[in-house]
Amino acid sequence: MAQTRNVAVVVGSIRRDSFNRKLALALQKFSPDGLKLNIAEIGGLPLYNQDDDANPPAPSVAFKKQIQDADAVLFVTPEYNRSVPGVLKNAIDIASRPYGHSAWNGKPGAVISLSPGAIGGFGANHHLRQSLVFLDVPVLQQPEAYIGGASELFDEAGGVKKPETQEFLRKFMSAFAGWIEAHAPRK
Ligand SMILES: Cc1cc2nc3c(=O)[nH]c(=O)nc-3n(C[C@H](O)[C@H](O)[C@H](O)COP(=O)(O)O)c2cc1C
Repeated sequence: MAQTRNVAVVVGSIRRDSFNRKLALALQKFSPDGLKLNIAEIGGLPLYNQDDDANPPAPSVAFKKQIQDADAVLFVTPEYNRSVPGVLKNAIDIASRPYGHSAWNGKPGAVISLSPGAIGGFGANHHLRQSLVFLDVPVLQQPEAYIGGASELFDEAGGVKKPETQEFLRKFMSAFAGWIEAHAPRK
């Protein structure tokens, strides 16, 4: 990798003991040198209100700036009712407005969905991709990351237990690093 790439990681759960947050925190270890992951927190964001477009609340401005300043975005999300959790959609909407001034535009992206269930948040993963098409985020296609069995995934220290999952995450983050290089906007 030619230069350091800063990745804003958006976690789709604000639950204290969130499996998705654990995974987001574990991912740096599986990333190639030069990829720097930072969680862009969404728990303190207000509900998006179009009335505020001309004068958005400070937490929304700060979140949007984090996305703008990042070289790439990585979503790590659970599935709620076969879709994306409302808190995540709210954060996406906040950084997308006002119309014509979206922070997501052209940012290389990737999606990991993680669930205790067997289908690994497939529905959330693909609903999220639907929004990312509109927001013009070029999203990594392969490998796809639908990770099931979340409650068995971590050890006491938050490390990923299974060697095959570790190997998959290494492969995923390496593919994402290549994707960022291929799609990063020229600065
Ligand atoms: C409102 C709600 C809806 C949910 N719907 C789904 C679902 O559609 N599919 C699924 O696999 N799990 C579903 N779950 C279970 C979540 O995957 C589980 O709570 C998971 O631990 C959430 O991720 P987190 O640990 O990162 O907070 C749902 C949970 C909640 C609270």
